[in-house]
Amino acid sequence: MAVRPAIEGGRPVRNRPLPYGHQRITDADVKAVASVLRGEWITQGPMVERFERSLARRCRAKYAVAMSSGTAALHAACAVAGLRSGTEGITTPITFSASANAIAYCGARPRFVDAAEDWPLLDSEALESVDGSGTLIVVPVDYGGHPAPLDEIRKIANARGWAVIEDAAHALGSTYKGKPVGTISDMTIFSFHPVKQITTGEGGAVVTNDGGYADALRSFRHHGIVKPERSEPWFYDIPRLGHNFRLTDFQCALGLRQLERLSARVARRRAIATRYAKAFRTLTALEPPTERPGCRSSYHIYPIRLRLRELKADRRQVFDALRAEGLGVQVHYIPAHLFGFYRSTYGYKEGDFPRAEAFYSREITLPLFDGMSDSDVEDVVEATTKVLAFYTR
Ligand SMILES: Cc1ncc(COP(=O)(O)O)c(C=O)c1O
Repeated sequence: MAVRPAIEGGRPVRNRPLPYGHQRITDADVKAVASVLRGEWITQGPMVERFERSLARRCRAKYAVAMSSGTAALHAACAVAGLRSGTEGITTPITFSASANAIAYCGARPRFVDAAEDWPLLDSEALESVDGSGTLIVVPVDYGGHPAPLDEIRKIANARGWAVIEDAAHALGSTYKGKPVGTISDMTIFSFHPVKQITTGEGGAVVTNDGGYADALRSFRHHGIVKPERSEPWFYDIPRLGHNFRLTDFQCALGLRQLERLSARVARRRAIATRYAKAFRTLTALEPPTERPGCRSSYHIYPIRLRLRELKADRRQVFDALRAEGLGVQVHYIPAHLFGFYRSTYGYKEGDFPRAEAFYSREITLPLFDGMSDSDVEDVVEATTKVLAFYTR
């Protein structure tokens, strides 16, 4: 007989809720930040470059340009790729809205391509059939940490003259055909928000092998300022408008320390994902995430899909039941084209991207972060098994 979930009057698996993601800060991290705060430079100092060099090395890329957030990194990358009013950028609906917002910030039109059938990554066949005369860039998203089909996208982008700006906000530490994410696209952006693989509080970066892009990005994050080589000491020019998207030195000190342990963090995330997949094998109403050949995910999140036909409950009931067990489950993501701004500004509507909408209707994100204890992991297994076994037909 199935165990009664808390929402049906049973005892919850946890009394203290477990979030879906969480930062991990060590005493050594705190010490590194404090030491910068007590020093000479708390912003625009040497720690920024040290962090950038270390990140670039980790991604096997030539340059990294630190930014104040992943969103700022996306905005900057879109702007230096030439996106402006009268042009378009393509992205995918299953993403955090920042991927599409960044295109809109530049005055360009965000255009969506539907998700693939197996996983909500930009579908390269659908991309191929886009008549993108005004398109300048494509922004594939490595959803959940799983790399998008980067070779296929590269081929299409090359043929059309588009730049590829990979939104790898979820994917630091992931690999694609043996290569680290960050070395493949024209520009790759990362986010260092606390739920990501490493954190700087808020923060992000653009990684690229193109020196021209790197210079333009550094200028864009600093008001658009450039300093001509032979000029008076005080002189600078602003040939094109930029922003203040700088990341502070004490945040970079945190990032640098966090980066040192990236491999161990990713290994822990992958071990938890493996444990979940094994435990959920017998649950017919749950489809765990899988990896396409050649792809290794760093598991920013653990998104499951419900097989709703196998259940007596809908997604909302399962979501509420998991919350009642003490799991801080979430849903990733509401398809971006369905937000009010996208409907009213660009005319998008329900039904425009059916595979993305179908994915959204049955997705739930379970807790996964590298600071989870083994007992936290077993709580997720127990609560998920209990809820889904109870509601399975
Ligand atoms: C796919 C994606 N892109 C971009 C961002 C923006 O990153 P940030 O929160 O650092 O601005 C996020 C944030 O979670 C994201 O999930």
